[in-house]
Amino acid sequence: MKYLIANWKMNSVDLDVWEREFINVVSSQNNFPKSDELKLIVCLNLYDYYVLSKKIKSSKNAIFNKISLFAQDVSQHEEGAFTGQISSKFLKKVGIKGSIIGHSELRENGDSEKIVFEKGLKLKEDELSNIFCIGEALEILENKNKKSFLLNQLKTFCKNNVSPDLLAYEPIWAIGTGKEADSENISSSVSIILDFLEEKKIYCPVLYGGSVSKSNIEEIISIPGIDGCLVGNSSLDGEQFAIIASKIKS
Ligand code: PGA
Repeated sequence: MKYLIANWKMNSVDLDVWEREFINVVSSQNNFPKSDELKLIVCLNLYDYYVLSKKIKSSKNAIFNKISLFAQDVSQHEEGAFTGQISSKFLKKVGIKGSIIGHSELRENGDSEKIVFEKGLKLKEDELSNIFCIGEALEILENKNKKSFLLNQLKTFCKNNVSPDLLAYEPIWAIGTGKEADSENISSSVSIILDFLEEKKIYCPVLYGGSVSKSNIEEIISIPGIDGCLVGNSSLDGEQFAIIASKIKS
């Protein structure tokens, strides 16, 4: 099974257009990956969730109909006076299947390794899935500190029965910059991650994220150990997202 995740962030997406363009590509291709070969996830805001979940439920298109919807963040708290935050209980109540945690844009805003772990714990308690993001800044890469940095992110998260359900390796300098990481860097990060997971006996698909587009998806998905991608900018357009999906073969 391969995975393709859209992270719409705080962008506005015209859901009617997105659906139409996505389905146009799916219907025009005879060998578009089936739902048991490629899992599609869209991470979106709550308003879009409300609208898109209805469209998905009523869609006659078998691929569109199987898209799972996730949040982009979750609170580490149970409930209470936490203005603007959303608890995992609430996500579950409205039907959201899980959430991204540890995205670098949230880490930049104050999510420490401890907070990311606590968010993972809350999702687990409510039986929701996590998409756990890790990745180094350019300075860390240049100072050759990538391995210890990634291992620290992994170690502080994988404890007390918390572990990634999907793990996205996203080098910070490749996110939203149009500058994807080269295959060699992705490969070396993937082997650091896979060695760690194997040692801890954790099975979880490893994804790459950072400027994935229809022109580099084939190269990225062919890297050994990569089970899918997390896509920001190129997922805002239903056509692009479907083209990327069509190029992922299991
Ligand atoms: P990008 O975003 O594809 O626009 O680089 C990736 C992400 O934020 O995860």
